[in-house]
Amino acid sequence: MSNRPKKKSTPADVLVLFGATGDLAKKKLFPALYNMALHGALDAEVVGVASTKWDHEQFISNAFEAIRTRVPNVDEKVLAGLDKKLSLVVGNYEDPQVYEDLARKLEGKIKPVIYLAIPPVLFEQVTQGLARVGLTKTARLVVEKPFGRDLESATKLQESIEAVLPEVRIYRIDHYLGKESVEDILIFRFANSIWEPLWNRRYINSVQITMAEDFGIEGRGAFYDEVGALRDVLQNHLLQVLALIAMEPPSDLTSQYMEDEKMKVFRSIDSLQPSDVVRGQYVGYLDEKGVAPGSTTETFVAAVVHVDNWRWAGVPFYMRTGKNLKETVLEVIVEFKQPPRMLFAESQAGSPNVLRFRLGKNDGVDIELMAKAPGDKLETLPVQLNVEFSAALGDRQEAYERLLRAAMAGDHMRFARIDSVLETWRILEPIIHGEVPVYPYFKGTWGPEKVDELMPQGWIEL
Ligand code: BG6
Repeated sequence: MSNRPKKKSTPADVLVLFGATGDLAKKKLFPALYNMALHGALDAEVVGVASTKWDHEQFISNAFEAIRTRVPNVDEKVLAGLDKKLSLVVGNYEDPQVYEDLARKLEGKIKPVIYLAIPPVLFEQVTQGLARVGLTKTARLVVEKPFGRDLESATKLQESIEAVLPEVRIYRIDHYLGKESVEDILIFRFANSIWEPLWNRRYINSVQITMAEDFGIEGRGAFYDEVGALRDVLQNHLLQVLALIAMEPPSDLTSQYMEDEKMKVFRSIDSLQPSDVVRGQYVGYLDEKGVAPGSTTETFVAAVVHVDNWRWAGVPFYMRTGKNLKETVLEVIVEFKQPPRMLFAESQAGSPNVLRFRLGKNDGVDIELMAKAPGDKLETLPVQLNVEFSAALGDRQEAYERLLRAAMAGDHMRFARIDSVLETWRILEPIIHGEVPVYPYFKGTWGPEKVDELMPQGWIEL
């Protein structure tokens, strides 16, 4: 199996960045490009496209400021090298002229990678514009999540893109798939044989996945109000993490086999019903810039998901995500069943073994075990075994750097395939059109109280 021939992809000779003056470019893409240049991994030119009428100097100074504020100890020589690679094409995405200008700029290029860091409503229009000037003939297209708004719109979007560019050249970003900490779930499960006998409904009581942020929508009101926590995080980041926890080992690491296994997990999940979900909105959201008056967009969502297969039937997977919560935390907690006979009943009650994947800053793994409490009696006390990966193994690469490199090299491994994207929309379909009430919550809490009804035994402390 391991000697299956692998097709070699042509590396990209130019990266085109639609939305080059936008929020994502500023926060993630320019720092990623800088890091690529620093690591000697940026041979291609980078052509930005934007409707903001900046000249070259403004574009460069904004890009460099974005880099300087986010990357520590910037190397000025690397920046100077980047300056020579960057240029900007300005134009309105509705205007055919911008695509013609871009096509002229890309003359002679063989393998462009075109990254759409723009609001999802513009994907179709831009792809059609690119197709009209022949730029979709060889290009790889990278699209940000969310891919569509629901099952129907994602299906239509796929049809319109596929009419001009085949699936093998579409790279759907879910930047959680580029996080080393998230990939570590795979290594943890499939490179260590000690977990497999325990990794099922006989030994696991529940799985809890939390992506909490202690900050709000940070000026992204217009984007966020159209999307909400369900579409922004649960449909993509959280379900992808769930799939890595729940999937069977793939036959090998090619993207096709990985995605096949994730697909089986998604297919085993029943569509969510309103009683499986609690939506919340923080008090003050309606005053944010760009938010529609009376908006019912959720800034918090919690859900219980059942993966109804032989490995997981009966094990609830709880997921929650939200803005302006008590802390910023990204964790998966696997809660094991307690022993069938509680010998040390009193001291042991309510303290199951817990395995924590810390996936955010200071990522690592913690295991909570019972140990003998000091003293005469045979009583238990919980203790922790933990490892912090950056301390043990060295620094991690940023997700966006890894994803840009992968798309430019033509490696699909860290991108979401269309069938799994559609399947995740199918899971959300009965609850995505506003059927579930929205409960208010105060900033700095863990969301609306209603969430306790979803999870009577409470979340395990983070
Ligand atoms: C993005 C969402 O995909 O992920 C943001 O649009 C969210 O709303 C962000 O803040 C969180 O990413 P990370 O890598 O900081 O966990």
